Amino acid sequence: MKKINIQNLSKQERLKWVIDNYIAAPNQEHVKKIINLYEIKNADISSIQEQFIENTIANFSLPFAVATNFVINDKNYCIPMVIEESSVVAAASNSAKFWMHRGGFKSKVISKEKIGHIHLFYYGSTDNIKSIFEYIKEDIIKAIDIISHNMKKRNGGLRSIKLINKEQLIANYYQIEMTFDTADSMGANLINTCLEEAAKIIKSKHDKDDLQIIMCILSNYNPNCIVKSEVSCEIKDLKGITLDPFKFADKFKKAIDIAENEIYRAVTHNKGILNGIDALMIATGNDFRAVEAAAHSYACRDKHYKPLTKLSLEDDIFSFQIEIPICLGTVGGLTSLHPMAKIALEILQNPNSDTLMEIAAALGLAQNFAAISSLITTGIQKGHMKLHINNILNKINASEKEKKILSDMFRNKPISYSQIINKLSEIRNINKENL
Ligand code: MEV
Repeated sequence: MKKINIQNLSKQERLKWVIDNYIAAPNQEHVKKIINLYEIKNADISSIQEQFIENTIANFSLPFAVATNFVINDKNYCIPMVIEESSVVAAASNSAKFWMHRGGFKSKVISKEKIGHIHLFYYGSTDNIKSIFEYIKEDIIKAIDIISHNMKKRNGGLRSIKLINKEQLIANYYQIEMTFDTADSMGANLINTCLEEAAKIIKSKHDKDDLQIIMCILSNYNPNCIVKSEVSCEIKDLKGITLDPFKFADKFKKAIDIAENEIYRAVTHNKGILNGIDALMIATGNDFRAVEAAAHSYACRDKHYKPLTKLSLEDDIFSFQIEIPICLGTVGGLTSLHPMAKIALEILQNPNSDTLMEIAAALGLAQNFAAISSLITTGIQKGHMKLHINNILNKINASEKEKKILSDMFRNKPISYSQIINKLSEIRNINKENL
């Protein structure tokens, strides 16, 4: 195997290389055609997008939709979502419409601390590493002050720095833990830069073999970057769902209890919440993998994986809440670079990071309310079917007339790909292998 470095090739050359080497000859023209269809025609935008990552060969497009009818902290929102899964946007909108007339969502940022560590091993006494740390600490703070000058102007910056003895986990293991307020930016780059600078200072001040710096990195476990959201109403006002309000509330509570106690359900429960939050994170150019990692790790903060939502039915009030870590930014990074992310933020009326966290939490709660409501009443498939059948019909190139016939035929019925193929071959009066 010959080693290749395609980084220095142009995008066109890289694409040619991939097609020549990895696409079977009969499909090469087709692949070129499709990739060309997805090409961004505007050179400036294309060049911005190409440079986000390395080795770009094409663009990959996903639908950009909006979920409507959200009232969050008494303000009306239309929430941009980028996602491939059918029904997610409709579910969020339906849920928002339901709560719109019941006071809407009340969201609040509880804390916004980001955290990072220098992970190190020290082979002397604990007292020694403590004095080394005390001796170096002020220099680290001064250096970080300079790096985070702009952040400080926005009331952000380093909030704390401490040495933590982690020898109960691994012999000789210590951490220097720093916490930050990164204002309206996600702040990952800044935190990592500060940590690496601090590590350099440690090395320059204590260049001895008894201290070994292993790595410097922010943590995606963010138990102190929390936002809450809540919807509530009297149980008797849970009308408009196919069940009697009290039966609905009772089944809803049992669904939450199952998730509280059963990891198989809890993970899917939380996945549904993240369907919405991830879609908003992608639309606004935020790091949805960081949000996912934080959410799932927070779900098992008590060593037992739990749902991120809770329900209380006290005093006949249905009070549904979410508590979730969401680290995001509204300035810097992709949020400022990607023209579509900028538009997504504009649709949201340019929120600051607190407001975007509050919107995201409300969206996650709406998504979970919609999922559980469907699961305990009609089942989840009913809502999925309409778009699912449409996707299948598009895949098999059905004409508009055929789409109408088949959609009517399968309305509200369980469907499978093969059933649709069979029906289409009957309509066209041809063998299904020839479709
Ligand atoms: C599907 O993407 C998400 C759901 O499975 C979530 C849930 O079950 O709560 C519908």
